[in-house]
Amino acid sequence: MTDTFHGTHVLVTGAAAGIGRATAIAFAKAGAKVSALDRDPVQIPAGDATPGQIHPVACDLSDLAALERIFADLIAARGAVRVLVNNAGVDRRIPLADLDAATWDEMMSLNLDHQAALARLAAPGMAAAGGGAIVNLTSTAWMKLAGTLAAYHAAKAGIVGLTRGLARDLGGQGIRVNAIAPGRVVTERVEAKLTRDWIAETHALQCIPDLIRAEDIAEAALWLASPGARMITGQTLVVDGGVV
Ligand SMILES: NC(=O)c1ccc[n+]([C@@H]2O[C@H](COP(=O)([O-])OP(=O)(O)OC[C@H]3O[C@@H](n4cnc5c(N)ncnc54)[C@H](O)[C@@H]3O)[C@@H](O)[C@H]2O)c1
Repeated sequence: MTDTFHGTHVLVTGAAAGIGRATAIAFAKAGAKVSALDRDPVQIPAGDATPGQIHPVACDLSDLAALERIFADLIAARGAVRVLVNNAGVDRRIPLADLDAATWDEMMSLNLDHQAALARLAAPGMAAAGGGAIVNLTSTAWMKLAGTLAAYHAAKAGIVGLTRGLARDLGGQGIRVNAIAPGRVVTERVEAKLTRDWIAETHALQCIPDLIRAEDIAEAALWLASPGARMITGQTLVVDGGVV
């Protein structure tokens, strides 16, 4: 998709690592000017983007008041966001007995609330500029009944509802809203713990006996945000190598 997004302002959250970093790089390679938001420093290897093309934005997404201020400064400096990739999230195994109100709120704050907040902040600028696309990262984990992840599952299932609701609310303003549900993605975080058994189990689980890389998810995000997907909204694209 060389230059498909030439000059387009794309905001990717959770862009310091994993799927978010791969997505920021993929959009930069497609010509976008990328705002790469993370609470950690965003370091892009030399050669992966033209210097200055990926602009780091320091922000903890669980602080919605700070997010609102930082977003206002961002669009004042770099123009309306035309593509928003709501990628940041945190999976944490929490037994039900430990799922007190504060822990529950924290999991919603880390996974769901900032997606809704950023959609609300970005939509008026997108609409005024002629439209845009929002891509929300959910997961297949909640579809597969994985254990001790109830709060994560609730947030990730909530993202599918959020995606469908926003698709209806924003379609008339030229804004498409879709989600991506990745399966087992080998990010650098996962790579560090890879074992032969895990690889064999993953190959057996999937129709396609290969490992899913962060770049595979980035490609899906790129396509969902591209003009080629102009009539697709409210959908969740599963990228899991084919798991029943
Ligand atoms: N990796 C997988 O196998 C997988 C599978 C299904 C879904 N997902 C989803 O994809 C998304 C990305 O996953 P990943 O594996 O690349 O994650 P990761 O942990 O490798 O990277 C997440 C990034 O988000 C940032 N981040 C997290 N919380 C933040 C906050 N409050 N404020 C600012 N930055 C924050 C982190 O600093 C990190 O850079 C997540 O939403 C995750 O739930 C991942």
